[in-house]
Parts: sequence; C-alpha cells; structure tokens
Amino acid sequence: MKRMQRLVMICMLLITVNAGAQTPEAKMKTFIDALMKKMTLDEKIGQLNLPGSGDIVTGQASNSDIGKKIKEGAVGGLFNIKSVEKIKAVQKVAVEESRLKIPLIFGMDVIHGYMTEFPIPLALSCTWDMNLIEQSARIAATEATADGINWTFSPMVDIARDARWGRIAEGSGEDPYIGSAVAKAMVKGYQGNDLKNTTSMMSCVKHYALYGAAESGRDYNTTDMSRLRMFNEYLPPYKAAVDAGAGSVMASFNEVDGIPATGNRFLMTDVLRKRWGFKGFVVTDYTGINEMIDHGMGDLQTVSALALKAGIHMDMVGEGFLTTLKKSLSEGKVTLKEIDNACRLILEAKYKLGLFDNPYKNCDESRVKTDIYTAANVKAARHIATESFVLFKNQGNILPLKKTGTIALIGPLANTKDNMPGTWSVATDFEKAVSVKEGLEKAVGNSAKILYAKGSNLMYDSVYEVNATMFGRGLNRDGRSDEALRNEALAIAAQSDVILAALGEASEMSGESSSRSDIRIPDAQRDLLKALIKTGKPVVLLLFAGRPMEIKWESENVPAILNVWFGGSEAGNAIADVVFGDVSPSGKLTTSFPQSVGQLPLYYAHKNTGRPLGEGKWFEKFRSNYLDVSNDALYPFGFGLSYTNFTYSDLLLSATNVKGNQTLKASVTVTNSGNREAKEVVQLYIRDMVGSVTRPVKELKGFQKINLKAGETKTVTFNITPEDLKFYNSDLVYDWEPGEFEIMIGSSSKDVRSKKVNWVK
Ligand code: BGC
Repeated sequence: MKRMQRLVMICMLLITVNAGAQTPEAKMKTFIDALMKKMTLDEKIGQLNLPGSGDIVTGQASNSDIGKKIKEGAVGGLFNIKSVEKIKAVQKVAVEESRLKIPLIFGMDVIHGYMTEFPIPLALSCTWDMNLIEQSARIAATEATADGINWTFSPMVDIARDARWGRIAEGSGEDPYIGSAVAKAMVKGYQGNDLKNTTSMMSCVKHYALYGAAESGRDYNTTDMSRLRMFNEYLPPYKAAVDAGAGSVMASFNEVDGIPATGNRFLMTDVLRKRWGFKGFVVTDYTGINEMIDHGMGDLQTVSALALKAGIHMDMVGEGFLTTLKKSLSEGKVTLKEIDNACRLILEAKYKLGLFDNPYKNCDESRVKTDIYTAANVKAARHIATESFVLFKNQGNILPLKKTGTIALIGPLANTKDNMPGTWSVATDFEKAVSVKEGLEKAVGNSAKILYAKGSNLMYDSVYEVNATMFGRGLNRDGRSDEALRNEALAIAAQSDVILAALGEASEMSGESSSRSDIRIPDAQRDLLKALIKTGKPVVLLLFAGRPMEIKWESENVPAILNVWFGGSEAGNAIADVVFGDVSPSGKLTTSFPQSVGQLPLYYAHKNTGRPLGEGKWFEKFRSNYLDVSNDALYPFGFGLSYTNFTYSDLLLSATNVKGNQTLKASVTVTNSGNREAKEVVQLYIRDMVGSVTRPVKELKGFQKINLKAGETKTVTFNITPEDLKFYNSDLVYDWEPGEFEIMIGSSSKDVRSKKVNWVK
C-alpha cells in the first residue's frame, strides 16, 4: 500500500512538473480544450459570427439587439465600432452577462493609420522605405489599441495592374517583390513582438486571393488566371504576410477558377494551410458567404456549408453560419469537427491576444489622451508623407519654389481638409487634417503671399460629383457658373509669379467600388488647367490621385508635376515641405502610369512574347504593339525624380560564372551630381534568359534607399543568391534553373545598366 501511495505521489509530481513545463502552445490547447468542453453547439457557432457594430449607442450596449445576441453567446467579435467607451461597454456584456464569459475580439479597417492618418497604402509603398512603413503600422496599432481595437483588416496586399480598379489605392501596386516586403513590414508593425502586448493588434491580410485582378478593373468582377501567374505574380505578398506571422486572413469577393474565394477549398486549405502552413483563422469579407448565392453556388445553407468546408472560420455580417450550420450538421452536410476547428481557431486568436487574461486590455481610457494623435505621431505622418510624393517633371527647375513673391493656389483640391486623408480613413477626424492652403500659408508666414481660388468644381457632372465625394468628403459644389469660377482663378493668376494647381481625383474616386473607365483628370479641372497654362505663368500641377492616372496631355504641357496621392492627416504640411524644398522628393512609383487607359493592364515585368517590339521602337507591323500608342508607360515602375541628379556608373559583378549556392555580388556607383542632399532608391532587376516556362523581361529582386550629400558618391552592393532566381514551374515546384541571367541595376525599371552572368547548378 505504501509503495502504491508513493507511486501515485510520483505520478502526480510528474504531471505537475510536466504541466509547469508545458509549451505555450500546449498551455493554450489545455485552456481551449477545457473551455470548449463547456460550450454548447450554439455557443460554438456563435464564436464564428462577426456582425457589424450595428445599433450600439453609448450607455445602452446591454439593451441593443447586438447586446442581446452577445448575452446569448451568439457573437464572436464586432468590427468598425469606434471609441473605447463603447467597446468597454460591449465587452462588459460579453464577459459579465454571457454564460461562458468569452471576450469579444474588436476589428476595424485600420488601413493607413488610425486617428493620425498616413498616406494611402499605394503612396506608402512609393517611399520604398520598409522602416517607415513598419513605423506607420506600429503607430496605427498603438493608436487603435488605445481606443479599444485589437484586430485590423490590413494589410491589403492585392497585386493590381489595372488602374481602372479603384482599390489599387489600398495596396502596394503591381509588383510581388516590393508587395511582399511591404506586407511583411506592415504585419510586423501591427503585431509587434508579441500579440499579448497592449499596443499590438492582430493583422488580417486581405483579400485572399487575386482580388486585384478583377476583369476590366471593375470592382468585385470575375478573376481568372493560370496557376503559373497566380503563384509567381499574385500570391507572393499573401504568403509573405503569412510567413511574417499574420494572425488572420480575409477571403476575397471574387471567384478563382470558377469558385468564389469564400468557398474555394484549393485556396483556403490546399494552398493556405497545407502549402504555407498557416495556423490562424480566416474571415469572410463582409457578406462573402451570402454573395455566393448570386455567384450561383446555391442557397444560404449550401453556401455556408461550402465556406466552412473550404476553410472559412468566421462569417462577417451575413450570419449564414449562425442561421444554417446547426441544420447542416444535423443533415450531415458539415461535421462537428469542422465547426469545432473553426471555433478553436477563433478562441486561439483571442487567447494569443491575451483577451482571456484581460478582456479589457485595450480599454484603458487614459491611453486615449496619451497615445492618440500625439505630436510624435503627427510628426512621423508628415515625414512619411514627404517621402511618398513622386516628382514626375520639373522643367527648368521650377520646383522648389522660393518663399517669396505671390503664389496663386488654384483648384478644387486646394482648400479641403476632408479629402486629404484619402480613402479608407474611417477613424480619423477630418477637422484635424491639414489642407494644402493651410500648409502653404503656414510655411510662408509673412514672407510670401498666397492667393487662393477654387477655379472649378471637381467635375461638370453634378451627379458624378455626388458619387465621387461620399462619406463626408464633400467638395462644397460651387453654384457659380464654370466661367465665373475660372475667371476668378485667372484674375488671381494674373497677380501671381507662379501657379500651383491642386487638381485630380477627390479621395473617394479611388477605393472600394470606385472603378473608373476614364482615368484622366476630370473635364472641368482639365479645362481649368488649360486656361492656366495659357496665361504663360509657370504652372506646377499638384496631382491628387488614388490610382495611376492618364496624364499624357499634362506631361507634355505642364512644366512641373508633383504627384502627391492622398498624403494623410499632414498632407498640406508635407506638400509645403516638398514644394518649398525643405525636403527633396524621393518617392518612386510602384505602379506604372499609362499613356492611355487602353494599355491596361500595364506592368513592367511583362513577358517578351514571340514578337517583341524592338527596343525604343513605337510600331512595327506584325509585332506586339498598338497602332496609336507605344508600348511604354508614361511614367514607369520605379520612376521618380529628385531636386538633385544621380549619376550611375561602374556596374560590377563579382563573377561572370557562378555555381550552386554561391553569392554573386552586384554593385554600382551612385553619385549625387546635383547641388543638394537627397535620397535615391537604387533598384536591382534580374532577367532569367531561358526557362522551362517563359520568364518576365525583368523582375525586381532588390532595392536600397540611400541618402547622398551633394557631390557624394556611394557604392551600392546587392548580394544575389539562387533564392533570387527561383520561380514556380509548370508543376508548381519552386526552384531555379541554371543558365544565363541578366543583372540590371538602375534608378527605375526603364533606366538600368546590365551585365550577364552564367549560373550553373
Ligand atoms: C471590404 C474590406 C473591409 C470590410 C470591412 C469590405 O467591404 O472589402 O476590405 O475590410 O468591408 O469593413
């Protein structure tokens, strides 16, 4: 008996020691196993439900419709609910009034900043500075978590090559290499080192997958592409976000291979989980499940089951899971294992965020004052915005302007705060945003005179203007005649030394459901610009754009063009910094600007075809080209001017024959040959000359942003390994093939020096 007792004691000791030594993963499993044992089927399905914030009014969370559902355990989380008070009140209902007291997760579209807004993502990517991009996400996370949010629907990493698609504004442009780098930086910035930290928020990479390849650039439209293109060109940024540890993924609205992404098992399970080893949970995009009814996939019960079986775990808004899964289970259309798995992954996310330890971890009201819209955050936003602007043209060095004389500031985008933050800035306060007029006036003080006139409405068509200025971003349509508006502008132009024309798109002319078939500057503004040019005064176009625009006429007729995108809260100040030369522009395009909308989709990393057009040629009969426009972009990928000049020389390779896993060093000498300090993005491109499948004419494989003082020279070196040569072949095997490679380094995808190397296995 004594021996028996001793044995039991030793066993118990061993169990205790083991429990103490449990890995964090095992601990989480033990906790969730125990919790799930207590859960009813309804409560499990409830965790998969993500309604919008609905009717919650401060002080009445418990009595709202959502409040009732939360008490019943029928809600896993909420999204786009703003303010720590509201979130705290709702969380209280969940952890005090529901049976199992499971905390809610709170999501939001924190896309390019929270209250402090950074430039739109497309602009952010044009900084080519991953530290700054990570910093912007870190600040966004700090501010959002101070206001109760712990989950962001970002980064959006959809490769987009068709400027007609309005959501091109929300991503990083056309290229998988820089797109992957940005994806990684954003996930790191949002999530920090540990999701349990109070300033960390879980990221949700979206929209998986291929949303940016919608046919004709029309939002939500069909997508269809080869597996080869998918794996080589469109999937890498999602994978990069997953590799960086993104806690969740959002399914896209579009179909892939004839099956909507939301019900696509190949995407959600075969690729995401099996190939990439993703361990987090997948949420639909909005009513993605319900929309499968219109896609033609069946009734709500059928499509909900399809989504769950494909690998979707949380249902945003549509309540297909909530209302049909129980029935599907009883009819054998889904399994308990599938429901349990989805529930577990959502509980795990909450566990990883530390919400079971402290459901109110993001509900410390004092942080609202200390962490949101701080002077440091605002300063960072201003700096980052200056780095995102792209200088297209600067004839006769009109820019930078001197802070003297009289400057005419003209255009419908010149005196608007609402339109500065850009699309998807849901949490910001427009009143805090700095307009161009305010920014310039502050910068010049009393040393120069700024005269302002609107000059024109956004466009002649008032109905179009209503659709293009939604969500409180109105431009106060002026009731005066077009002629009266123009004459007022011409009158101040006549009194001025230089004209700054703030023209282009309003902020809601890009973003979701904002596709355009005509991507020029709207008619009323173009006519105004023509009239301003006719005055003979120097004109600088400050181009507001959420997409690449068709600005061929402008490129030929306006002496200086600075593309300022939508620069965030500090847009006006940042524009002043660059216009007056406190900062030299250093942004470079991550998306090609076409000469004509008819060239779309347009991207630098195209295939050669069997009938390529000769270098520098416009048209040759029976070659791949157009009769009416050359194949070139107006402003190519990687392009952007500076106030100084950079000279590239001495492209050197460490070898011309390389074997196996050796590293090839490719270097170039860059000299700042102008007379002011500035930054330059040095770009490395590689072409695989022969492959088992056709390969692009060049692919970005490295970049470095360097700072050079006037007259300074630096050698920039890239280490190239076989990793940089890999691609997916027709069996979807990721590997490199031996042979000849062209190594190119330069200041844009169009301006490179090159040397060849032979690389054997
Ligand atoms: C968008 C998503 C967004 C979601 C939630 C959808 O309409 O496509 O990008 O995250 O709404 O607001």
